[in-house]
Amino acid sequence: MHEQTKYLKSCLVIASGNVGKIYEFRRLLADFPLTIHGQPEGLHVEETGNTFLENARLKALAVANATGKCSLADDSGLSVDHLAGAPGVHSARYASTDEGRISRLLREMETCKNRSAHFSSAICIASPNNEILLEVEGRCEGLITNKPRGSKGFGYDPIFEVLDTGLTFAEMGIEKKQLLSHRGRAFALLKPGLTNLLQL
Ligand code: IMP
Repeated sequence: MHEQTKYLKSCLVIASGNVGKIYEFRRLLADFPLTIHGQPEGLHVEETGNTFLENARLKALAVANATGKCSLADDSGLSVDHLAGAPGVHSARYASTDEGRISRLLREMETCKNRSAHFSSAICIASPNNEILLEVEGRCEGLITNKPRGSKGFGYDPIFEVLDTGLTFAEMGIEKKQLLSHRGRAFALLKPGLTNLLQL
């Protein structure tokens, strides 16, 4: 058996402390014969990359190294056209809470007519011997709403209306979000490689 496949057979650690993200990955990975773990408490990885992919690699490699198990990391964020792509890779650091991040973004967009934005997700799976096994990127186009709508999901979900749906991520069920979202689209690209790695 290939060394990486052996590591992956045992389990996959999701390199994130974000409860919303871990929930989505547990669902996306439900059909794979993998035991899913969250990353160990207290482990913090500095996101020093300039792109989503660089940060996903950093997180996956660091967590695989720390745990001795294969790790899947997602680096994601919201890029707003009017703000020249901000908050982008700084989406998590835009303010200290989801409410704070949403208020800041709506404030900065107050008088703005161009509401175009997109979510990006880079997913990377790394092995404990410092190898990148798989990496993909997905994107979802939409608009920043004038005020929050809906109560599902996490993060910026209540103020991101998915193009051609009339619904924010927070107004749709998880199935619909996973079909249309940046993370769902990235995961669809990851699936064949993961199936192959697991020799399914
Ligand atoms: P990361 O954990 O460094 O990738 O940070 C991602 C940031 O973007 C966090 O602030 C998340 O709340 C936000 N984010 C990423 N994906 C989503 C999503 O699907 N919905 C809403 N916010 C998201």
